Amino acid sequence: MIYLDNAATSFPKPEPVYRTLDAFARTALANPGRSSHRMAKEAERAVDQARNAFNRFFGGAGPERWIFTLNGTDALNMAIKGVVGPGDHVITTDLEHNSVSRPLRALEKAGVITLTRVESEAGYVAPEAIRAALTPRTRLIAMTHAANALGTVQPIGEIGALARDADALMLVDAAQTAGVVEIDLKALPVDLLAFPGHKGLYGPTGTGCLYVGPRAVLRCWREGGTGGDSKSEVQPEELPYRLEGGTPNVLGIAGLAAGLAWVAERGAETNRVHEVGLLQRVVDWVDGSGDGWRVAGRWDPATHVGALSLIPPGLGEVPDLPQELATILDTSFEIAVRPGLHCAPYIHRRLGTFPDGTIRISPGPFNTIDEIEALVQALEQITATIA
Ligand SMILES: Cc1ncc(COP(=O)(O)O)c(C=O)c1O
Repeated sequence: MIYLDNAATSFPKPEPVYRTLDAFARTALANPGRSSHRMAKEAERAVDQARNAFNRFFGGAGPERWIFTLNGTDALNMAIKGVVGPGDHVITTDLEHNSVSRPLRALEKAGVITLTRVESEAGYVAPEAIRAALTPRTRLIAMTHAANALGTVQPIGEIGALARDADALMLVDAAQTAGVVEIDLKALPVDLLAFPGHKGLYGPTGTGCLYVGPRAVLRCWREGGTGGDSKSEVQPEELPYRLEGGTPNVLGIAGLAAGLAWVAERGAETNRVHEVGLLQRVVDWVDGSGDGWRVAGRWDPATHVGALSLIPPGLGEVPDLPQELATILDTSFEIAVRPGLHCAPYIHRRLGTFPDGTIRISPGPFNTIDEIEALVQALEQITATIA
């Protein structure tokens, strides 16, 4: 199988991740913080080390500010529902994944917040458009760092500065950038950074993280045991326990820490450049093929991550065309891609690719140019079946 669906979840994982998962599961899979025996202490040490590693890698304001979550969605819900309240205005964009759009829309429908969804141009949100949407009641700007349907990287530094000026909080969904684009929280005006652990950080599924910066105070998300201070009737105030009730996914966190260490050694930019380099070959094919294939959004290798959406010729005429083509790629060529809306319906409406969507190609650090050649040849062959 040629796996080109890393924007959904990365595969394969680097070898140290597999080795860590195996060794940890056999020797240290106790309940961290819950008991005083050696295994529990070892599990707790692994979680603490992971928090420290995240804090170092992203330049955070303290290891306790890194909250381990179930996935990216969990982290985003925790952030959004933890900070907004009645009467708040929130700004978001049409590039968002449903894990941002749906909680915000639900709050809007319930009459809790007012919401402005800023439109992008060719896959990019202009800071000016965000500035124009700000009101005195704006509490939160919630937006993606890179659009998962298109791979376009957004100017979060400039937009975060606007949030600071307006005394609003800046929540960044780094699902497609954590581990592939440099993120330095010392330099970036970002208050809340949410991401899954199972994409560009190479942890297993069931992992995610929310960074809570010093300007953000979150309401408790779920109450429960934290291991310490069991006398208290209510959730402890201090981070990370305020937001981390229940036994954490300590095995997943150990694997995620191994993935993070692997990325830190290579450098995030190395992975991004490799993936964008592979996609350039696909873009060149699209540009030269004359078969009517198009790239969705603007292709700019300097501001792209390793995800590219292709619009096939005949989209909208042949029912469910992207799904059909992805099935052919899978069954006849053993190539895995992701067709459809990519949980990001607003941008597909904006680009005219709703409701069937596009075909998203997302290579990872282990894909080779030969595999991309195989994809291009497969696309050439199946184009004939569409015509
Ligand atoms: C941009 C973006 N945000 C959020 C998510 C949600 O992450 P998870 O599937 O880990 O909940 C994804 C996953 O595809 C994503 O691409």
